[in-house]
Amino acid sequence: MRAALLLAALALPAMVLAGSPDLVAEGKRWWTESPDPANPVACATCHFDPAATRGWAASFPKWKPLPPPHARVMTLFQANAEAVARHYRLSAPRRVAAAITAYLAAHGADIPLSPGISAGQPVFPQRLQALVASVKRGRALFARRCDACHRAGEAARALTAFPRAVDGRVESLEEFVERHRGEGPPAWDSQATADLIAYLTEESR
Ligand code: HEC
Ligand code: HEC
Repeated sequence: MRAALLLAALALPAMVLAGSPDLVAEGKRWWTESPDPANPVACATCHFDPAATRGWAASFPKWKPLPPPHARVMTLFQANAEAVARHYRLSAPRRVAAAITAYLAAHGADIPLSPGISAGQPVFPQRLQALVASVKRGRALFARRCDACHRAGEAARALTAFPRAVDGRVESLEEFVERHRGEGPPAWDSQATADLIAYLTEESR
Protein backbone atom coordinates (compact mmCIF):
# COMPACT_ATOMS: atom_id res chain seq x y z
CA MET A 1 0.00 0.00 0.00
CA ARG A 2 2.70 2.41 1.07
CA ALA A 3 4.87 1.51 -1.94
CA ALA A 4 1.95 2.07 -4.32
CA LEU A 5 1.29 5.51 -2.88
CA LEU A 6 4.93 6.46 -3.11
CA LEU A 7 5.00 5.46 -6.75
CA ALA A 8 1.80 7.36 -7.44
CA ALA A 9 3.32 10.46 -5.91
CA LEU A 10 6.22 10.35 -8.32
CA ALA A 11 4.20 9.99 -11.51
CA LEU A 12 3.38 13.41 -12.90
CA PRO A 13 0.36 13.52 -15.19
CA ALA A 14 1.36 14.32 -18.78
CA MET A 15 -0.53 17.64 -19.07
CA VAL A 16 1.31 19.14 -16.15
CA LEU A 17 3.78 21.83 -17.18
CA ALA A 18 6.02 23.15 -14.42
CA GLY A 19 7.54 26.49 -15.29
CA SER A 20 6.12 26.04 -18.79
CA PRO A 21 7.23 28.72 -21.26
CA ASP A 22 3.70 30.16 -21.25
CA LEU A 23 3.61 30.49 -17.48
CA VAL A 24 7.11 32.00 -17.37
CA ALA A 25 6.15 34.50 -20.12
CA GLU A 26 2.96 35.38 -18.24
CA GLY A 27 5.04 35.94 -15.09
CA LYS A 28 7.48 38.16 -16.94
CA ARG A 29 4.58 40.31 -18.18
CA TRP A 30 3.21 40.72 -14.66
CA TRP A 31 6.71 41.47 -13.40
CA THR A 32 7.31 44.27 -15.90
CA GLU A 33 3.80 45.75 -16.38
CA SER A 34 1.45 47.04 -13.72
CA PRO A 35 -2.22 46.11 -14.28
CA ASP A 36 -3.28 49.62 -13.23
CA PRO A 37 -2.79 52.31 -15.93
CA ALA A 38 -3.19 55.00 -13.23
CA ASN A 39 -0.23 53.55 -11.32
CA PRO A 40 2.34 52.20 -13.75
CA VAL A 41 4.85 51.24 -11.05
CA ALA A 42 5.61 47.55 -11.66
CA CYS A 43 7.71 45.01 -9.78
CA ALA A 44 10.54 45.66 -12.22
CA THR A 45 10.38 49.42 -11.57
CA CYS A 46 11.84 48.86 -8.10
CA HIS A 47 13.50 45.51 -8.73
CA PHE A 48 15.23 46.68 -11.90
CA ASP A 49 18.51 44.76 -11.49
CA PRO A 50 18.17 41.24 -12.96
CA ALA A 51 21.45 40.20 -11.29
CA ALA A 52 19.87 40.91 -7.87
CA THR A 53 16.59 39.09 -8.51
CA ARG A 54 18.27 36.06 -10.12
CA GLY A 55 19.23 34.79 -6.65
CA TRP A 56 15.76 35.16 -5.09
CA ALA A 57 14.29 31.75 -5.91
CA ALA A 58 17.34 29.93 -4.47
CA SER A 59 17.25 32.01 -1.27
CA PHE A 60 13.68 31.09 -0.21
CA PRO A 61 12.13 30.01 2.12
CA LYS A 62 13.54 32.70 4.36
CA TRP A 63 12.72 35.21 7.04
CA LYS A 64 10.92 38.14 5.45
CA PRO A 65 11.37 41.30 7.54
CA LEU A 66 7.85 42.70 7.09
CA PRO A 67 6.53 45.19 9.62
CA PRO A 68 5.49 43.36 12.83
CA PRO A 69 3.46 41.22 13.37
CA HIS A 70 3.82 40.01 9.77
CA ALA A 71 7.54 39.25 9.79
CA ARG A 72 8.10 35.50 9.48
CA VAL A 73 9.59 32.75 7.36
CA MET A 74 7.91 32.76 3.94
CA THR A 75 8.12 30.91 0.68
CA LEU A 76 8.82 32.87 -2.51
CA PHE A 77 5.20 32.34 -3.62
CA GLN A 78 3.89 33.70 -0.32
CA ALA A 79 6.23 36.71 -0.50
CA ASN A 80 5.18 37.37 -4.10
CA ALA A 81 1.48 37.08 -3.19
CA GLU A 82 2.01 39.63 -0.42
CA ALA A 83 3.84 41.96 -2.84
CA VAL A 84 1.19 41.55 -5.57
CA ALA A 85 -1.61 42.38 -3.11
CA ARG A 86 0.33 45.38 -1.78
CA HIS A 87 1.76 46.91 -4.97
CA TYR A 88 -0.87 45.89 -7.53
CA ARG A 89 -3.81 45.98 -5.08
CA LEU A 90 -5.20 42.74 -6.46
CA SER A 91 -7.60 41.08 -4.04
CA ALA A 92 -7.02 37.68 -5.68
CA PRO A 93 -3.23 37.68 -6.06
CA ARG A 94 -2.57 33.95 -6.40
CA ARG A 95 -2.49 33.41 -10.16
CA VAL A 96 -0.29 36.47 -10.68
CA ALA A 97 1.97 35.45 -7.78
CA ALA A 98 2.30 31.90 -9.16
CA ALA A 99 3.22 33.21 -12.63
CA ILE A 100 5.78 35.63 -11.15
CA THR A 101 7.19 32.79 -9.02
CA ALA A 102 7.57 30.62 -12.14
CA TYR A 103 9.30 33.52 -13.90
CA LEU A 104 11.73 34.17 -11.01
CA ALA A 105 12.44 30.42 -10.65
CA ALA A 106 13.24 30.12 -14.38
CA HIS A 107 15.34 33.28 -14.20
CA GLY A 108 17.52 31.76 -11.42
CA ALA A 109 17.20 28.07 -12.27
CA ASP A 110 20.95 27.42 -12.39
CA ILE A 111 21.65 28.84 -8.91
CA PRO A 112 22.20 26.26 -6.13
CA LEU A 113 19.66 26.40 -3.27
CA SER A 114 20.79 28.39 -0.26
CA PRO A 115 17.64 28.95 1.85
CA GLY A 116 17.95 32.03 4.03
CA ILE A 117 21.02 33.37 2.25
CA SER A 118 20.99 35.78 -0.70
CA ALA A 119 24.13 36.20 -2.77
CA GLY A 120 25.75 39.57 -2.09
CA GLN A 121 23.49 40.30 0.90
CA PRO A 122 24.52 40.37 4.56
CA VAL A 123 23.69 37.24 6.58
CA PHE A 124 21.61 37.85 9.71
CA PRO A 125 22.16 35.08 12.31
CA GLN A 126 18.74 35.66 13.91
CA ARG A 127 16.99 35.23 10.58
CA LEU A 128 18.89 32.00 9.97
CA GLN A 129 17.90 30.77 13.43
CA ALA A 130 14.27 31.56 12.61
CA LEU A 131 14.66 29.44 9.47
CA VAL A 132 16.16 26.55 11.46
CA ALA A 133 13.14 26.73 13.80
CA SER A 134 10.82 26.75 10.78
CA VAL A 135 12.49 23.63 9.33
CA LYS A 136 12.10 21.92 12.69
CA ARG A 137 8.38 22.73 12.87
CA GLY A 138 8.03 21.57 9.27
CA ARG A 139 9.66 18.24 10.09
CA ALA A 140 7.22 17.67 12.98
CA LEU A 141 4.26 18.66 10.80
CA PHE A 142 5.39 16.32 8.03
CA ALA A 143 5.70 13.46 10.54
CA ARG A 144 2.12 14.11 11.74
CA ARG A 145 0.34 14.84 8.48
CA CYS A 146 2.27 13.41 5.55
CA ASP A 147 4.59 10.63 6.68
CA ALA A 148 1.91 7.91 6.50
CA CYS A 149 1.95 8.17 2.70
CA HIS A 150 5.23 9.86 1.70
CA ARG A 151 8.88 9.85 2.48
CA ALA A 152 10.15 13.40 2.77
CA GLY A 153 12.90 12.96 0.17
CA GLU A 154 10.33 11.84 -2.36
CA ALA A 155 7.83 14.63 -1.61
CA ALA A 156 10.75 17.06 -1.82
CA ARG A 157 11.29 16.15 -5.46
CA ALA A 158 7.96 17.80 -6.26
CA LEU A 159 9.39 21.19 -5.24
CA THR A 160 10.67 21.95 -8.72
CA ALA A 161 7.42 20.77 -10.33
CA PHE A 162 5.58 23.87 -9.08
CA PRO A 163 4.15 26.39 -9.88
CA ARG A 164 2.56 24.59 -12.78
CA ALA A 165 -0.21 24.98 -15.27
CA VAL A 166 -2.79 22.18 -15.26
CA ASP A 167 -5.39 22.51 -18.01
CA GLY A 168 -5.08 26.30 -18.02
CA ARG A 169 -5.33 26.53 -14.24
CA VAL A 170 -2.19 27.62 -12.39
CA GLU A 171 -1.21 25.97 -9.14
CA SER A 172 1.55 26.59 -6.62
CA LEU A 173 2.82 23.89 -4.27
CA GLU A 174 1.30 25.92 -1.42
CA GLU A 175 -2.16 25.67 -3.00
CA PHE A 176 -1.66 22.00 -3.84
CA VAL A 177 -0.87 21.21 -0.19
CA GLU A 178 -3.92 23.19 0.97
CA ARG A 179 -6.20 21.04 -1.20
CA HIS A 180 -4.31 17.79 -0.62
CA ARG A 181 -5.56 14.90 1.51
CA GLY A 182 -5.24 14.68 5.25
CA GLU A 183 -7.07 16.41 8.06
CA GLY A 184 -7.07 20.19 8.19
CA PRO A 185 -4.29 20.87 5.68
CA PRO A 186 -2.59 24.21 6.36
CA ALA A 187 -3.72 27.28 4.38
CA TRP A 188 -1.59 28.25 1.35
CA ASP A 189 -0.43 31.52 2.93
CA SER A 190 0.21 30.14 6.43
CA GLN A 191 3.38 29.89 8.44
CA ALA A 192 2.73 26.12 8.69
CA THR A 193 2.90 25.75 4.89
CA ALA A 194 6.14 27.76 4.81
CA ASP A 195 7.48 25.45 7.55
CA LEU A 196 6.59 22.33 5.53
CA ILE A 197 8.25 23.74 2.41
CA ALA A 198 11.29 24.91 4.38
CA TYR A 199 11.65 21.32 5.63
CA LEU A 200 11.19 19.78 2.15
CA THR A 201 13.68 22.28 0.69
CA GLU A 202 16.23 21.19 3.29
CA GLU A 203 15.53 17.53 2.42
CA SER A 204 16.03 18.22 -1.29
CA ARG A 205 19.55 19.55 -0.90
C1 HEC B 1 7.96 50.63 -4.66
C2 HEC B 1 9.06 49.68 -4.79
C3 HEC B 1 8.70 48.21 -4.89
C4 HEC B 1 7.81 47.63 -5.77
C5 HEC B 1 6.89 48.27 -6.79
C6 HEC B 1 7.92 46.19 -5.55
N1 HEC B 1 8.83 45.93 -4.57
FE1 HEC B 1 9.40 44.11 -3.91
N2 HEC B 1 10.61 44.94 -2.53
C7 HEC B 1 10.85 46.29 -2.41
C8 HEC B 1 11.84 46.50 -1.35
C9 HEC B 1 12.39 47.84 -0.89
C10 HEC B 1 12.18 45.21 -0.86
C11 HEC B 1 13.17 44.86 0.27
C12 HEC B 1 14.58 44.94 -0.22
C13 HEC B 1 14.88 43.86 -1.23
O1 HEC B 1 14.92 42.68 -0.84
O2 HEC B 1 15.10 44.17 -2.43
C14 HEC B 1 11.41 44.26 -1.64
C15 HEC B 1 11.48 42.91 -1.48
C16 HEC B 1 10.79 41.97 -2.25
C17 HEC B 1 10.92 40.54 -2.10
C18 HEC B 1 11.85 39.81 -1.14
C19 HEC B 1 13.19 39.64 -1.77
C20 HEC B 1 14.18 39.00 -0.85
O3 HEC B 1 15.19 38.49 -1.35
O4 HEC B 1 13.93 38.99 0.36
C21 HEC B 1 10.08 39.98 -3.00
C22 HEC B 1 9.86 38.50 -3.24
C23 HEC B 1 9.43 41.05 -3.72
N3 HEC B 1 9.89 42.25 -3.24
C24 HEC B 1 8.51 40.87 -4.72
C25 HEC B 1 7.91 41.91 -5.42
C26 HEC B 1 6.93 41.71 -6.45
C27 HEC B 1 6.42 40.36 -6.94
C28 HEC B 1 6.54 42.94 -6.88
C29 HEC B 1 5.51 43.29 -7.91
C30 HEC B 1 4.15 42.82 -7.66
C31 HEC B 1 7.29 43.91 -6.10
N4 HEC B 1 8.11 43.25 -5.23
C32 HEC B 1 7.18 45.27 -6.24
C33 HEC B 1 10.28 47.29 -3.16
C34 HEC B 1 9.32 47.13 -4.14
C1 HEC C 1 -3.48 9.50 2.70
C2 HEC C 1 -2.24 9.57 1.95
C3 HEC C 1 -1.58 10.91 1.76
C4 HEC C 1 -1.29 11.88 2.72
C5 HEC C 1 -1.64 11.87 4.21
C6 HEC C 1 -0.55 12.89 2.02
N1 HEC C 1 -0.40 12.58 0.71
FE1 HEC C 1 0.65 13.63 -0.67
N2 HEC C 1 0.05 12.35 -2.15
C7 HEC C 1 -0.66 11.18 -1.93
C8 HEC C 1 -0.95 10.56 -3.23
C9 HEC C 1 -1.73 9.28 -3.46
C10 HEC C 1 -0.35 11.40 -4.22
C11 HEC C 1 -0.35 11.24 -5.75
C12 HEC C 1 -1.68 11.65 -6.36
C13 HEC C 1 -2.02 13.10 -6.10
O1 HEC C 1 -1.34 14.00 -6.60
O2 HEC C 1 -2.98 13.34 -5.33
C14 HEC C 1 0.29 12.47 -3.50
C15 HEC C 1 1.02 13.49 -4.08
C16 HEC C 1 1.78 14.42 -3.40
C17 HEC C 1 2.71 15.32 -4.00
C18 HEC C 1 3.10 15.34 -5.45
C19 HEC C 1 2.27 16.34 -6.21
C20 HEC C 1 2.54 16.28 -7.70
O3 HEC C 1 1.55 16.15 -8.42
O4 HEC C 1 3.68 16.38 -8.12
C21 HEC C 1 3.22 16.09 -2.99
C22 HEC C 1 4.25 17.21 -3.12
C23 HEC C 1 2.58 15.68 -1.77
N3 HEC C 1 1.72 14.66 -2.06
C24 HEC C 1 2.83 16.24 -0.55
C25 HEC C 1 2.17 15.90 0.62
C26 HEC C 1 2.30 16.62 1.86
C27 HEC C 1 3.23 17.82 2.07
C28 HEC C 1 1.48 16.01 2.75
C29 HEC C 1 1.22 16.40 4.20
C30 HEC C 1 0.67 17.75 4.41
C31 HEC C 1 0.84 14.90 2.05
N4 HEC C 1 1.27 14.89 0.77
C32 HEC C 1 -0.07 14.04 2.64
C33 HEC C 1 -1.08 10.70 -0.72
C34 HEC C 1 -1.01 11.37 0.50
